[in-house]
Amino acid sequence: SDKYVVIGNPIAHSKSPAIHSQFAAQTRQRLEYQTLLAPTDGFELSVHNFIVAGGKGANVTVPFKEQAFTLCTELSDDARLAGAVNTLSFLPDGQIRGDNTDGQGLVADLLSHTSLKHKVVLLIGAGGAARGAILPLLRSGVKQLIISNRTFEKAQTLAKQFKDYGNISAVPMAELESGFDIIINSTSASLAGDLPGVPVHIFSPDTLCYDMMYGAELTAFNAWAKSHGVVNCIDGLGMLVGQAAISFEIWRGVKPDVDIVLSQLRQALE
Ligand code: ATR
Repeated sequence: SDKYVVIGNPIAHSKSPAIHSQFAAQTRQRLEYQTLLAPTDGFELSVHNFIVAGGKGANVTVPFKEQAFTLCTELSDDARLAGAVNTLSFLPDGQIRGDNTDGQGLVADLLSHTSLKHKVVLLIGAGGAARGAILPLLRSGVKQLIISNRTFEKAQTLAKQFKDYGNISAVPMAELESGFDIIINSTSASLAGDLPGVPVHIFSPDTLCYDMMYGAELTAFNAWAKSHGVVNCIDGLGMLVGQAAISFEIWRGVKPDVDIVLSQLRQALE
């Protein structure tokens, strides 16, 4: 059967093998999906060895998404603009195609909770996770996308880079006002138990908050938003399953069902 892996470092705790195995079972696709630990200085060699061993495709995670980008001979628009690749396809003619499905996974998960048309959206953070989300968000019909980041210059650079793709601008954190329909936290602050320094008046009962982080408990950001009146808070587990589903469809040409897998993963977290 066809072979796939998720490559990262560390990788042991990745949920991708479980997710893709369930997708395969659902759609009756015969494939193997495993983890592949690459040494931090050995990403390219690991990929080439996997191709030689007959690998058909790979997901790429921390810290290799930028290296995966440089390895590709063909890129989707999302991957090109994100400057990062999370989905590699090893084509029969030897080409390596790169996609980035993280942002589409986010948008698909958001759309399962709300409409994005004509919405005013705040994206907090300007790192790799934010960069990958911008094009899919702009394409989804939002009215306005504001980027805010601790280091303001990075938000400005992103806004400039994507200005031809929609209504996007950068605002310093301290100058953020209220009125956002959707607030997305893409920062890695929560990893250290920190909160981004946004003013709490951005939160209201009508705001939908999305934290790309997830866990058994409410994430630190979502708990903070709730304590300031936000009712609707979503964590990033659906984004994880959503990006996997789009990768699976790129490789196999069939769309798996996200909801069943998501509710099983959710139960397993608790
Ligand atoms: P990722 O790929 O997860 O986006 P990254 O590219 O290292 O990781 O970016 C991390 C993001 O989280 C950045 O926007 C960073 O802000 P800076 O650009 O100012 O560094 C943000 N971030 C990390 N820790 C933070 C904290 N404690 N408070 C606010 N923002 C934080």
